[in-house]
Amino acid sequence: MIPLPELVIGIDLGTTNSVVATVQGGVPTVIPNRAGYRITPSVVAMARNGKRLVGALARRQAVTNAERTVVAVKRLMGRRWSSKALQEVLPRMPYTVVAGPHDDIRIQLGETQYSPPEISAMVLTELRLDAEAFFGEPVSKAVITCPAYFNDSQRNATKDAGKIAGLDVVRIINEPTSAALAYGFGRQQNERQVAVFDLGGGTFDFSILHMFKGVFEVEATGGDSLLGGEDFDNRIIDWLAEPFLQKNGIDLRKDKMSLQRLRDAAEKAKCELSALKSVEINLPFISATQKTGPLHLQATLTRELLETMTEELVQRCVKVCQRVMDEAKVQSGALGDVLLVGGQTRMPRIQDAVRKIFGREPSKNVNPDEAVALGAAIQGAMLLHEEQEMLLLDVTPHSLGIAIAGGFFQKIIGKNTTVPTSAHHVFTTVKDDQTVAKITVVQGENEMAVENELLGEFMLTGLRAAPRGKVDIDVIFDISADGIVSVSALDVQTGARQSITVTASSGLTEEEISKAAKSNEDWMLGQKEDPEFQDRKTRAEELFREFEQLWPRLNQAAANGLGQEPLTRAQAALSVARLQLAQKESEALGGSIDRLERMLGALKGAIERGLGKG
Ligand SMILES: Nc1ncnc2c1ncn2[C@@H]1O[C@H](COP(=O)(O)OP(=O)(O)OP(=O)(O)O)[C@@H](O)[C@H]1O
Ligand SMILES: [Mg+2]
Repeated sequence: MIPLPELVIGIDLGTTNSVVATVQGGVPTVIPNRAGYRITPSVVAMARNGKRLVGALARRQAVTNAERTVVAVKRLMGRRWSSKALQEVLPRMPYTVVAGPHDDIRIQLGETQYSPPEISAMVLTELRLDAEAFFGEPVSKAVITCPAYFNDSQRNATKDAGKIAGLDVVRIINEPTSAALAYGFGRQQNERQVAVFDLGGGTFDFSILHMFKGVFEVEATGGDSLLGGEDFDNRIIDWLAEPFLQKNGIDLRKDKMSLQRLRDAAEKAKCELSALKSVEINLPFISATQKTGPLHLQATLTRELLETMTEELVQRCVKVCQRVMDEAKVQSGALGDVLLVGGQTRMPRIQDAVRKIFGREPSKNVNPDEAVALGAAIQGAMLLHEEQEMLLLDVTPHSLGIAIAGGFFQKIIGKNTTVPTSAHHVFTTVKDDQTVAKITVVQGENEMAVENELLGEFMLTGLRAAPRGKVDIDVIFDISADGIVSVSALDVQTGARQSITVTASSGLTEEEISKAAKSNEDWMLGQKEDPEFQDRKTRAEELFREFEQLWPRLNQAAANGLGQEPLTRAQAALSVARLQLAQKESEALGGSIDRLERMLGALKGAIERGLGKG
């Protein structure tokens, strides 16, 4: 029997929507989720009963549970708490974001804090379970996409999300490159250059590729990891909220539920305006004051006005395209095709801008929602099954370098260099018997190091004791095919490997990743249990908490005449239920829940009768 090829999936982990795909019998195919849809919203929520909700279910309850619903977490991936970018997106988030322990970010959902990779991992886990349901067997290997313009920390965060979801991430691939793979797959065509314009919910990428006989070579790429549909929505939100603030003195953006309602209404209006010239926005009971009672919001938005308020965003896309074309020395006339990817490219104004830059109609040969996931599936099949004679050569989107004297940036690897790649730099001691040296590695294009993205600080420790200038350390910077940087070092004179410790990295530690992975695995195992037991488990845990909170008052009630007996009985019933829960005795647990509920009712009654007063 011929062994079946190992399963591998491609995942487009989007800001707004995610898609999972695979190659089946040589055909790239989108895997529908368990509800039958080809697209899964990248939304995660903790319901009030403690249940984890992902996708459409989470999205549907976002307005009534805004505080505990995470949308657009991709905007937070790999960002530092102290970064300017974060301050920009923070006020727009209808959930609570707090500082993490490594100048990173945590999301507060009820009592628990989650890192952005943990939230992304919940989306990935959902897609993985969808794929497992589709194949009827376990899946662990995946290619995950990320915006081409993502820097090292953002890529690491994406990879960490994959690890937490228990996936073996065989490659991180750039979204526009992935879309181009889907476009070129199985298409016998002449040598050509294509441009990919990818404007999704949160990010913008623009790449130029050269395709010839199955070789896909990225020539140049550029983008903006904070430019996407979300920003178009934000313009509408401000347009709605500002006059409301002037008139009623209430900033709707400051209330999490109102903000979530505004976000929904703005996005809906924006999408409708891609087909209509004018839409009504209606938000009844959006707020209220003592004086006026309930307040409603009503407005008419025209396509023309939407275009005026978002023109600056369109121009930002145009500028990126022009810069990349200049850098790659490409004339628009020489381009074979221009591919539009990402939902926001459905906006007519975007299509006009693209027509104007490139002087042609964009290609209709790719599905803007699915191409990225399909390309990732193709890349997965290429890596694991080598079934197609295809080769993918991508580039690094940012220059890599170090901080040198005077705070300047010294470039070591230039942007648009084909990856994997590596480069060396020799450092010399400046003091006698110097034992440590610090190397600050940054990514970016600014001549001042601090203006660029700090990637990490690397300590060379235990340097050989010698007069200054007599120890040369050769530091090697590697960028992998995933676009992820690693640093190693050698003592030039002795050839010995020099030890390096990474400090000031904003990523999760290995320990945090394995802890999160373990808890995700436990959750998955729990999912496989029967749903009735799940419900009983949730209810039992709620009861445990309620009893615990009530206990101090029950003690007082006991002292005030209720006596110890009912408490002792409750305690015994709780112990029995805990044991049944641990041993997964579903039926018996059901009985215990009934008993505990009756006891709780009676005890609360006693407290209400005044016995619980101290
Ligand atoms: N008809 C439409 N007109 C305008 N915008 C649209 C339309 N349909 C979808 N969008 C917008 O497209 C965005 C989602 O696109 P997409 O699903 O490609 O993004 P994503 O892959 O989740 O994000 P990213 O790639 O940036 O991480 C949303 O902002 C959505 O409002
Ligand atoms: Mg996308």
